[in-house]
Amino acid sequence: MNSILTPNVAVAPARAVPVAKPNNRGHRVRLVGGYLLAISLLLALTIYGWDYYTLDATQRPFSAKHALLKPSGAIGLKLGFVGMFIFFAIFLYPIRKRWAWLMKQGNTRHWLDIHILFGLAAPFIIAFHASFKFRGFAGIAFWIMAAVSVSGVVGRYLYAQIPRSLNAAELSRKETQELQAQLSQQLAEQRLLPPANLREMLSLPAPEKVESLSFLVAIPYMMLLDVSRVFRVARLRRHALRGMEHITTLGGLFSTGHRELERAIEVAREEASLSKRILFLSRSQPVFHAWHVIHKPFSYTFAFLALIHIATVMAMGYGLF
Ligand code: HEM
Repeated sequence: MNSILTPNVAVAPARAVPVAKPNNRGHRVRLVGGYLLAISLLLALTIYGWDYYTLDATQRPFSAKHALLKPSGAIGLKLGFVGMFIFFAIFLYPIRKRWAWLMKQGNTRHWLDIHILFGLAAPFIIAFHASFKFRGFAGIAFWIMAAVSVSGVVGRYLYAQIPRSLNAAELSRKETQELQAQLSQQLAEQRLLPPANLREMLSLPAPEKVESLSFLVAIPYMMLLDVSRVFRVARLRRHALRGMEHITTLGGLFSTGHRELERAIEVAREEASLSKRILFLSRSQPVFHAWHVIHKPFSYTFAFLALIHIATVMAMGYGLF
């Protein structure tokens, strides 16, 4: 099996040894800015609206904040428009896959990051717009959107597990293995780490065992391996820690000041992650495919209901100004 690409499923690009690409910096800054903006907006709304949103529906009209925070209120309506903008932004990602001109714009990973930012923010923004009262068509659309958003988190995990091509992933694994052997030898010479410890971090279940796992078990197992790797790395770091470093690195959970050690750990971690992704490919790929099959109809049902809601509200004469 050379290529694992399937017609409808765009898969993640294989990464070699992690190298920060220069054009990623601007994207990362904008992305972090977007998350900070969304979190600040939601925090401000929670603090300002707490006493209103916690009121009973019958008491709300008597609140001084009702005119502002009800769905058709000065703030509530603007939140609805923000939600509408987010709605269109979310669907740009699937539209891009089918629109050749848009496909040429930017990088798929960056578009997916933006899709995820908006997909995570949307349920919260819409919940504030609806003032936490979910009724009728719009209410059903909200719950479908929330379910799609939660399922997106699982999809994102699976997406990251699938290398674009097995050849590239194998090549990348070979390069990482060579580099890792070189670095662990250097560390052993400097007496920073015994080589056996790096090897322990790379230990994975046997391929026959993985093949015998059901899909339901294999995916949580992969997640467990990812989580356990964090603690294995911490254990590894503890070999090189001195005095206060045990506290400043929280027992090895955070990076130490040892450049060579961190580089070796990074390479070993990359190799472990790549080997795991290749090992579990026969399990993760069909599950990701099935996830797509479920994610799409729910997304489009949500889009349909949301469009009815938007059209109805527009027809009633509500506008931004
Ligand atoms: C309101 C929320 C969301 C909606 C309506 C939505 C909708 C969609 C749609 C329509 C697709 C394209 C399916 C296709 O044509 O192949 C998609 C793909 C995807 N979404 Fe979402 N999504 C939402 C939130 C999220 C969130 C919160 C995440 C992650 C945390 C996420 C992760 C993904 C991933 C990983 C893919 C597949 C990427 C690919 O295979 O190219 N989505 N989503």
